[in-house]
Amino acid sequence: MFWLKTRIVEGRNALENLKKEAKNHERVLILASNSMKKHGFLSKAEDYVREAGAEVFSITGLPAEPSVEVIEEFLPKVREFEPDLLVALGGGSVIDTTKALKVFYDAPGLDFEEIAFMDRFSRPKPVPKLKTKLIAIPSTSGAGSEVSAASVLKKGGIKYNIVTPEIAPEVAILDPRLPMTMPREVARNSGLDVLVHGIEAYTTRVANDFSDAMAIKAIKTVFAFIERSLEGDEKAREKMHYASTMAGIAFLNARLGLCHAMSHKAAWIGPHGLLNAIFLPYVIEFNAERSEYARKRYDEIARELNLKDWRELLQAIKELNERTGVPKLGELVDERTFMEKLEEMAEKAYHDGLIAFNPVEPTVEEIEKLYLEAYKGE
Ligand code: ATR
Repeated sequence: MFWLKTRIVEGRNALENLKKEAKNHERVLILASNSMKKHGFLSKAEDYVREAGAEVFSITGLPAEPSVEVIEEFLPKVREFEPDLLVALGGGSVIDTTKALKVFYDAPGLDFEEIAFMDRFSRPKPVPKLKTKLIAIPSTSGAGSEVSAASVLKKGGIKYNIVTPEIAPEVAILDPRLPMTMPREVARNSGLDVLVHGIEAYTTRVANDFSDAMAIKAIKTVFAFIERSLEGDEKAREKMHYASTMAGIAFLNARLGLCHAMSHKAAWIGPHGLLNAIFLPYVIEFNAERSEYARKRYDEIARELNLKDWRELLQAIKELNERTGVPKLGELVDERTFMEKLEEMAEKAYHDGLIAFNPVEPTVEEIEKLYLEAYKGE
């Protein structure tokens, strides 16, 4: 099966479509990141909503990483305003926060632990039908949250998932002017996240020809455009912006694997996309050495990039990380702190729901070894 719930509106000035989208709504709540306020896109969005004849209320200042605590903090404000349309204007963090707020606003009384995938053996309660329309307007090019059915929330330094089609946004507005203001590091971290989404989605056990098409296009776009995008080239940023959503469509269907399981459990160390970029080469080597299917799939990706095989792909990824200045894990966290948490991270990554989709089922010890190798930069 291949599905996509979200209607995608793309192109320069696509933000203006809020005028149409907000018609027939009375109370529109915009959740925006500080940067979207600073660069004037929030006030533009507010104007469009007013032009549509709706009342608008905005919440800014959401912390960079969505967490259960943030939801608890902001939910009363959402309830007080009683919106009939939610707009998320910002990076993956803002979109994930808005998705989770939608769940608890539309279905009061639910408990996070009841409905979240705490680990791969948990059987969360299904989320009931949710009514409030959600429009996602991404300002980064990486998370893919504008089309995905997941909201990733931190609880105690670890990331957990709410996954239900109910939170996949009804509309995604992709306006390439928004990611233009990303600082280089944010563009790099989110851009490399696109690559990891594409590669992991292409190599899961449930990938199909349709998700493959999205994954391959996204992967090729990253290799062709990420460096120019980091220099601030407009066309390249635009291409990366769309590739991010394509990779999101790929993993919405084909899911993700071990690399994400590892980065979710190491969320306390650094930005999500950056951790993914650091772990990816280790995961590729691990999977390729143990699974013929994984080798075949990595070989296919390699050929799409005019490379010979998975070993050349691995090398190309390592070189891309180097050229874009991805640091070593040891530069992000000191050895003592890392070693103290290592066993717990490996144990929790083993229990992550995404392990079931990885082409190889790793043991806890193997995951621990991968974390260690990544730490040592071997
Ligand atoms: P991701 O999409 O990878 O999940 P994020 O966590 O939502 O990214 O955002 C990462 C950082 O990028 C945030 O610190 C955010 O800053 P604010 O919260 O202050 O806005 C910043 N950011 C996101 N989009 C941006 C943009 N278009 N211009 C400048 N900064 C941006």
